[in-house]
Amino acid sequence: MIALQTATVLAAVFLSTANSAATPTASYLPQTSPTYLPSFPAQTGVITSWPPADPSAPLPSGPLSTATLTLSGYPTMNVPVANASVDPNIIPIMNLIDWTHVPDAPVTTNTTIVPAGDPYCWWTQGGCVTPKISYIPPDIYICPVPDTWGLTYDDGPMYYYPVTPENSVWAEPNLYDFLLAHNNQKANLFYIGSKIMGAPIAAQRGLNDGHTICVHTWSHPLMTTLTNAEVVAEFYYGLRMIKEVLGITPKCWRPPYGDVDDRVRAIAWQMGLRTIIWDQDTNDWQIVGDQVAPTSSSISYATANNTVEGWIANHVKGNDTQHGHITLEHELSNATITLAEFWLPTIQKLYQTMPATACNNIAQPYWEESFVYPIQGDQAVSTNGTAVGGSTSSNGTTTPKIVSSAATKSTQVMGSVMTLVVAAIMASLL
Ligand SMILES: *[C@@H]1O[C@H](CO)[C@@H](O)[C@H](O)[C@H]1NC(C)=O
Ligand SMILES: *[C@@H]1O[C@H](CO)[C@@H](O)[C@H](O)[C@H]1NC(C)=O
Ligand SMILES: *[C@@H]1O[C@H](CO)[C@@H](O)[C@H](O)[C@H]1NC(C)=O
Ligand SMILES: *[C@@H]1O[C@H](CO)[C@@H](O)[C@H](O)[C@H]1NC(C)=O
Ligand SMILES: *[C@@H]1O[C@H](CO)[C@@H](O)[C@H](O)[C@H]1NC(C)=O
Ligand SMILES: *[C@@H]1O[C@H](CO)[C@@H](O)[C@H](O)[C@H]1NC(C)=O
Ligand SMILES: *[C@@H]1O[C@H](CO)[C@@H](O)[C@H](O)[C@H]1NC(C)=O
Ligand SMILES: [Zn+2]
Repeated sequence: MIALQTATVLAAVFLSTANSAATPTASYLPQTSPTYLPSFPAQTGVITSWPPADPSAPLPSGPLSTATLTLSGYPTMNVPVANASVDPNIIPIMNLIDWTHVPDAPVTTNTTIVPAGDPYCWWTQGGCVTPKISYIPPDIYICPVPDTWGLTYDDGPMYYYPVTPENSVWAEPNLYDFLLAHNNQKANLFYIGSKIMGAPIAAQRGLNDGHTICVHTWSHPLMTTLTNAEVVAEFYYGLRMIKEVLGITPKCWRPPYGDVDDRVRAIAWQMGLRTIIWDQDTNDWQIVGDQVAPTSSSISYATANNTVEGWIANHVKGNDTQHGHITLEHELSNATITLAEFWLPTIQKLYQTMPATACNNIAQPYWEESFVYPIQGDQAVSTNGTAVGGSTSSNGTTTPKIVSSAATKSTQVMGSVMTLVVAAIMASLL
């Protein structure tokens, strides 16, 4: 059932599922459930709970069905919503939001202009993750427990227009099959509404595999450049597409390019969404690939590869003991898939590898309470990412189950030539 809460009541002590262990006692506005979304009939072949109704049934594998879905009532794909302020779907939400709890930050036009004192906690200018307002929680951007890797893939579901024999090999379910074949690894998938519209069956496969779905807007804009109504529309149509195609309503979102400030955060929160950033960026989205054209900021595959190798070498050296990491990766091109699949076995060997929501103790990332995912410390999230059974009991509202990792795996491997050590670790996996 979807809980009903009013957007206008300031809770004295509001402990939602999404308030991570990092912020257990703060006073926040209620994270409002999206009552404005239409209801949709359930889609055939899409799970309605986690663990699924029949946990012993094999997970889907093999090529995706070519079935199409009739999805109507959506704006033009891949562009910000036109005339959002007069959109009859958006007006009721504008009336529901408590605008006294949305900072009046300027709509940004130029990301090189740094406002003095950063009054609106603009991530794009210096990585602010702790709002300057007290009534919404900080962003989630790390895994609290050392030696943990929060696995996230943005911009999916990955598909091609058109699919050719050359590029189809990189399209989903390539990555999803790879994760399945590697200890049934789970990840966060930050889906773009427009991409789901183009590839709904791939999105259904992502959910059915047990990945945790979060919203990555409708059209992937720089959110701080949009008006309030346009921000609301990006969330609304992204959420609506996920609800129609997948039957779930996420409580988590990630801003495209990380571009978020307190105005956008406060709107997101009142639309039920906690902001998730990252602390390690592969920059894989800048690698020229079959879906990514060269630009002035393009990087080579080797550069991104070296970035990941550097993190791992630092970890192996024993210089990474403060906390775990949430890492930005993408299902976006042949290059990002290649990078992701190259490094995953090494990551699984060196870190507890799980969705970023799981390492932040969020067992119930959707308003639909029938989905309860394993979190850090649960048996089903083992020390190396191996799924060893169904979810255990936590519904995410109990005492956080963060545990210290028993041994810092990195200190088990010391060496002076880190490249060789990393190479040796990878060789041992082959
Ligand atoms: C936006 O609204 C204006 C004025 O109502 C209208 O002329 C225009 O066609 C609309 N644009 C779109 C893309 O709907
Ligand atoms: C952004 O601001 C900088 C610094 O004031 C200025 O040099 C630049 O021309 C501006 N860019 C645009 C696109 O307005
Ligand atoms: C990526 O880095 C690893 C570790 O140094 C290396 O083995 C691999 O060859 C690199 N891949 C490419 C394509 O450069
Ligand atoms: C340890 O790691 C930090 C980043 O986490 C880095 O800035 C620093 O240079 C590293 N120190 C050594 C000795 O490698
Ligand atoms: C990706 O595809 C492009 C275009 O076909 C090609 O030039 C590039 O080498 C490929 N990169 C990887 C990592 O497969
Ligand atoms: C992960 O742990 C499980 C259970 O302890 C073990 O069976 C499996 O071999 C391990 N996998 C890797 C890649 O170390
Ligand atoms: C979650 O668990 C707590 C403690 O066991 C319980 O009080 C609460 O009712 C549960 N919530 C749901 C939605 O099951
Ligand atoms: Zn993105």
